[in-house]
This record gives sequence, structure tokens and C-alpha cells, in this order.
Amino acid sequence: MKRILEPELMLDEHQVMAYAQADFEIPHQDFMRRLSTWVNEPNFSGTALDLGCGPGDISYRFAKTFPLCTLHAVDGSSPMLNIAQAALSSDLAPRLRFIQGMLPTVILPQSDYEIIFSNSVLHHLPDPQALWQTVKNYAKSGTRIIIMDLLRPANLALAQKMVKDYTVNEPEVLQRDFYHSLLAAFSLEEISTQLAKADLQLQLEQISDRHVFITGVIR
Ligand SMILES: C[S@@+](CC[C@H](N)C(=O)[O-])C[C@H]1O[C@@H](n2cnc3c(N)ncnc32)[C@H](O)[C@@H]1O
Repeated sequence: MKRILEPELMLDEHQVMAYAQADFEIPHQDFMRRLSTWVNEPNFSGTALDLGCGPGDISYRFAKTFPLCTLHAVDGSSPMLNIAQAALSSDLAPRLRFIQGMLPTVILPQSDYEIIFSNSVLHHLPDPQALWQTVKNYAKSGTRIIIMDLLRPANLALAQKMVKDYTVNEPEVLQRDFYHSLLAAFSLEEISTQLAKADLQLQLEQISDRHVFITGVIR
């Protein structure tokens, strides 16, 4: 099945509210568990970068999991960032900063980061090199990269089955989003080709019927 693009930024207020209010406890907790296991440094005190942070649920989880870290979190959507920013408490504000900007042209406050992570963003990009170039622009030797995204099912019937299996209790707007995201996602082979083109040596692991986990350390 060919990839069908979905809108790059999430700008629609109704869609943004539904996404921000959705219960992502299980997948986001799972992302943090995998990330923490892989980073294996509970006292990490450097600066990390969250690419395509949306309403910030994972950004907050990261900042709380690593209480000594600083985190810069970027998104191109101001409705998303307004929600993320509204939840920022005074105790986290000194080390968690939300920044509006587009991958790959965003200019960030630091020239490089010790950890760069991203969840569920790659499939939004018309040109996937936007993510890989941003990773390269802001990585240095030793930067740890952790990325999770959806994988495109083989056909429409499988995509429809996944919507039924995994989002049946969610509002209709979220079910529609999930369906469009599955159709816009890449295959393992396509991601592998993208990484080769970007000259990034990262490891791909399929971790469920619909998720890929991508990790590596920049040399
Ligand atoms: C599905 S959401 C994921 C949000 C968050 N990472 C999470 O896991 O909940 C994808 C986000 O990527 C943002 N996005 C898509 N393309 C982007 C780009 N080129 N630059 C910056 N943000 C982008 C969208 O606006 C949206 O907020």
C-alpha cells in the first residue's frame, strides 16, 4: 500500500483538544520505559531535545523522570504549544522550555544536545529527511537518539482492523487521526533507506504490530 500523507502540523483546535485529552498513559509510559532503559542514566543532567512535542505529555514525563535534566521541546503548532505551556509549573519552568519552530529549519537555543528523542512525528512529515536532518544538525559525538513511530500496515483492511482493535473506545476524531496516521506512516524498509540517505547509523526494532523503535549513539 502506498503512503497517503496527512496534514503535517496539527492545527485544528478540535483535533488538538481531542489529542491533548486522550489517554496516552500506556503508550507514553511504554515509550518512557524503553527510553529510560536504553539511556540507563537516572541522574542524566545534560540537555535533551524533544522533536514534535505536541501538547507536551512526553516532555513532562521526561523532565520528571530525569529530575536533573534540562529539556527543550519543539513543535510547529501553536495550539499544541499553548496547551503544553499552560501546564508548565514554576518548579519545572527553569529546566523545561517549549519552542515554536518547524523541522528542519528551527533555530534552537543550543548548538547540540546530549539526548534527542521524538515520538509519533516522523509519519507527519512530507519529507522524512526533515527529522533526520534536524537530528544531524543538533547532535554531536555521543548524542543518544531515541525515536518511536507508527509503521504503515500492508493494506487498508489491516489499518481499519487496527483502528477497531486499538481505538474503539476513543472519540471519533482520534479514531480518524489514528487511521490517517497509519496510512501516512513509513515501512521498516523505507525508514532504513531514509537513514542510509542521511548517513545515520541507527538501529531499527519493530516492537509491536504498529510501532518501530529507533535508537543509536552518534559517532
Ligand atoms: C502526533 S503528534 C505527537 C506529539 C508528541 N510527540 C506525542 O507523542 O504526544 C505530532 C506533532 O508533530 C508536530 N509536527 C509535525 N510536523 C512538524 C514539523 N515539521 N516541525 C515541527 N513540528 C511538527 C505536529 O504539529 C504535532 O504536534
